[in-house]
Amino acid sequence: MNDARKRVWLLGCGRMGRVLLRGWQRGGIIADYTVIDPKAASLANEFAGAKFTAAVPDGHADILVIALKPQKIPTILPAYHRHLAADSAVLSVAAGYGCAAISADLQLNDSARVARAMPNLPAALGQGISGFYAPPALPRRADCLELLAVLGPILELVQEDALHAVTALSGSGPAYVFYLLEAMVMAAQAVGLSADEGKVLARQTIIGAAAMLAESPDDAAALRAQVTSPGGTTAAAMAVLTEQNRFAEILRTAITQAQLRSRELADG
Ligand SMILES: NC(=O)c1ccc[n+]([C@@H]2O[C@H](COP(=O)([O-])OP(=O)(O)OC[C@H]3O[C@@H](n4cnc5c(N)ncnc54)[C@H](OP(=O)(O)O)[C@@H]3O)[C@@H](O)[C@H]2O)c1
Repeated sequence: MNDARKRVWLLGCGRMGRVLLRGWQRGGIIADYTVIDPKAASLANEFAGAKFTAAVPDGHADILVIALKPQKIPTILPAYHRHLAADSAVLSVAAGYGCAAISADLQLNDSARVARAMPNLPAALGQGISGFYAPPALPRRADCLELLAVLGPILELVQEDALHAVTALSGSGPAYVFYLLEAMVMAAQAVGLSADEGKVLARQTIIGAAAMLAESPDDAAALRAQVTSPGGTTAAAMAVLTEQNRFAEILRTAITQAQLRSRELADG
C-alpha cells in the first residue's frame, strides 16, 4: 500500500491484533495506523509507528480491521458506523461472525464492503494460511489482501460458507499436527525409547518433513512413495495406517466435526 495517508484502524489488539500489527510493521506496509484497544497505553510502549487509543477515534477509517472476540462485536461495532466513508472497507478476522452480521452492526446497507479472513496460528511467524472471502464489489480489495498477506499465503474463497471448512482444516489444523507428534512420542516409548528421545526424534521428523514439502516440487503422496520401499519398514507401518482407510477416516470424521462446531458457534 505504501501510502501514509491511508487510514487503517485496527479494532482489538490482543493476540491476533498484535500478530497483524507486527506483520504490517515487519512487512514495511506504510499507512496511517490507529489501534483501538483498552490497553492502548501499554501497547504504545510496545509498538512504535501507530496511534493508540482506548476510545473510538475521531475521523474515519479507509480500512477497519476487526480483531475482536466475536461475542464482543455486537456491542462494540455499532459505534463505528459513523466512522466509515462510502468507500471504506471492513476486514474481519473474527471466527464465525458473518459478513451480514457485521454489516448489520455497522448499519451498512448491504454486505458489499465487508470481507472476512480465517488465519491460523503460524501466522505469528508469517507462515500461516488464511482463507479469505470478499464480495466481488469490495472496495480496497488489494489493500485488504496486502494487509492479510503478512500472515502468510491467502486462499481466496468464492462462498463465505467455505470459511467453516477452512476453520476446520487449516484453522484448527496445527493442533492435528501437534497431536500427531504427541502420538509419535507415545509410540516411541512402546518401542523402547525414552519420552525425551521420542520428542527429539518426532519433533525434528515433522519439522524436516514439512521443510521437504515446502522445498520439493513433489506432492505429499510422491514424497511418501520415496520413503516407502516395497516390503520395507515404512511399508509395514503404512499397511496399518491405511488398512480400511482408517487413519484417513478418523481425520475425515474429526474435520467434519470441527466444521459442524464452527457452524454451531456461528449460529449462536
Ligand atoms: N488467536 C488466534 O490464533 C486467532 C486465529 C484466527 C482468528 N482469530 C480471531 O481473532 C479475534 C481476536 O482473537 P484474539 O485471540 O486476538 O483475542 P484477544 O486476545 O482477546 O484480543 C481481543 C482484543 O480486543 C480488545 N478489546 C476489548 N474490548 C474492546 C473495545 N471496546 N475496543 C477495542 N478493543 C477491545 C481486548 O482487550 P481486553 O483483553 O482488555 O478485553 C483484546 O485486546 C477473534 O475473533 C478470533 O476468532 C484468532
